[in-house]
Amino acid sequence: MRKHIVAGNWKMNKTFNEADELVSDIIEKLESIELDRNTQIILCPPFPYLEMVSDYSDDSYFLVGAQNVSDQESGAYTGEVSAAMLESMELDFCIVGHSERRAYYHETNELVAAKVNQLLKHHLKPIVCVGEVLEEREAGKQFEVVEKQVREGLFHLSATDFADIIIAYEPVWAIGTGKTATPEQAQEMHAHIRQLIEKQYGKAVADETSILYGGSCKPSNAKELFANPDVDGGLIGGASLKADDFIGIATAF
Ligand code: 13P
Repeated sequence: MRKHIVAGNWKMNKTFNEADELVSDIIEKLESIELDRNTQIILCPPFPYLEMVSDYSDDSYFLVGAQNVSDQESGAYTGEVSAAMLESMELDFCIVGHSERRAYYHETNELVAAKVNQLLKHHLKPIVCVGEVLEEREAGKQFEVVEKQVREGLFHLSATDFADIIIAYEPVWAIGTGKTATPEQAQEMHAHIRQLIEKQYGKAVADETSILYGGSCKPSNAKELFANPDVDGGLIGGASLKADDFIGIATAF
């Protein structure tokens, strides 16, 4: 059975002390609830807080991921963080190809593919984001756009490597806007992505791939979204910055 995953993408938020407080609040809340055994919690804080958050957890409450990685192995790339560095900190995951990086830092599918390769080489699991912008949805092109992102970002992988991939469908028009895809829109796209995976790698791989929804997922709509057969959890932005909301979503299965 594929994993249910609730991942918090903190983006560029929180000072060190605020981040420390958030993670201790999350742990306190996790200690008081019974999580579904198949649900995995992942926290993706900014780079400078990765060690602090990892030290808190010791893998018992949640796993930890970065929000970005370099496509290069090492060397003179000022300001970049390599997959080898993340591996040496014993991190488990890394978000790749978030729409904010595609939009503001011009990340292409080709660059996403190179980052995915670096992560797999260093034994980290990529959480690969795909999703259409509003104009693309209004033009009825959402399936085509997401198919191209999935194909060009991921389909160069072998079936064995693909088994380590988590996909997050994040319709850009729903990110941080308060607009959420309807459960039907989310299910339809997740099923489309799973079909693409099945055609490329076969049913067993497709059935095991966790596909998360991201885009204004909140405690009030998580249940409805997660009730869909192809929605295996969420990549949570704003609501992951408040322990109550984040745990409210994590318990929505
Ligand atoms: P929001 O939950 O704030 O809409 O952000 C979603 C997202 O981008 C997660 O990566």
